[in-house]
Amino acid sequence: MTGEQIVCPSAIPSKLTGVMPIPMTKKMINKVIKNYAIASKRLQKAGYDGVEVHAGHGYLLNQFFSELYNKRTDEYGGSLENRTRLAVEVLHSIRNKCGKDFIIGCRINCQDYIEGGLEIGDMAKIAKKLEDEGADLLNITAGIFDSPFYPVIPFMNQPRGVYSEYSKIIKRSASKIPICVVGRINTPEIAEEILQDNRADMVAMGRAVISDPYFPQKVQEGRRVEMVVCPACNACLNQILIEEKISCSINANLLGRYEDI
Ligand SMILES: Cc1cc2nc3c(=O)[nH]c(=O)nc-3n(C[C@H](O)[C@H](O)[C@H](O)COP(=O)(O)O)c2cc1C
Repeated sequence: MTGEQIVCPSAIPSKLTGVMPIPMTKKMINKVIKNYAIASKRLQKAGYDGVEVHAGHGYLLNQFFSELYNKRTDEYGGSLENRTRLAVEVLHSIRNKCGKDFIIGCRINCQDYIEGGLEIGDMAKIAKKLEDEGADLLNITAGIFDSPFYPVIPFMNQPRGVYSEYSKIIKRSASKIPICVVGRINTPEIAEEILQDNRADMVAMGRAVISDPYFPQKVQEGRRVEMVVCPACNACLNQILIEEKISCSINANLLGRYEDI
């Protein structure tokens, strides 16, 4: 998008863009580690209680985890431990700069949903490692941009709470810290079911608050029939992908243009 040189663990292009990246040198890796800490410190100074490090959706840290994109032969590739090293060093660097009272969460995939990509078994081990190395919270998502269907933002053909079966497995592995899960959690009933069933300690919602920004307030006040429930049609996503302003097929007032509706 910016025209800048793309860097990756190894010279493997994303199918989405086809652009050939260059493998990161140790110097580049060190700079990235340092920059995570600098960015986190900036947020701490601005008053935030914590940060969430994105290590899912096929972004850099997720690529380092994955054998499909990480073919390195140095200390950052070749084994699960080595492939997790960058994320661990990022965690340590933020912790050193922001201190023990700063919350550091990690957003990780439960599966990459691509042949040769990460599966739940590996992710449960990575989750444990992140817990051991100082993560305060894990937020479980799924999919990468190259996945054949689009699990990052699950469409209506996926069941509600689709990733909660996997967050349950991760919760058993990283058992000391809170585990949050996202993915088609768009009614209070499915949210409650996931919590009661111990599949996660917290739930996260994206589109539920696009279709109805008052969703949490309505849950609290028991105004169930008034809720405008997201059908997972992904009209919002389509707009973003064509670089247009977000819209919603069931919330005409999303951008506050029609206050009187
Ligand atoms: C329009 C739109 C934009 C999104 N942008 C991002 C993003 O920039 N970073 C990210 O990690 N997730 C992004 N997501 C994914 C959401 O964080 C969430 O994981 C996903 O929508 C699934 O949750 P849901 O079923 O509650 O919507 C986006 C989702 C939508 C619908």
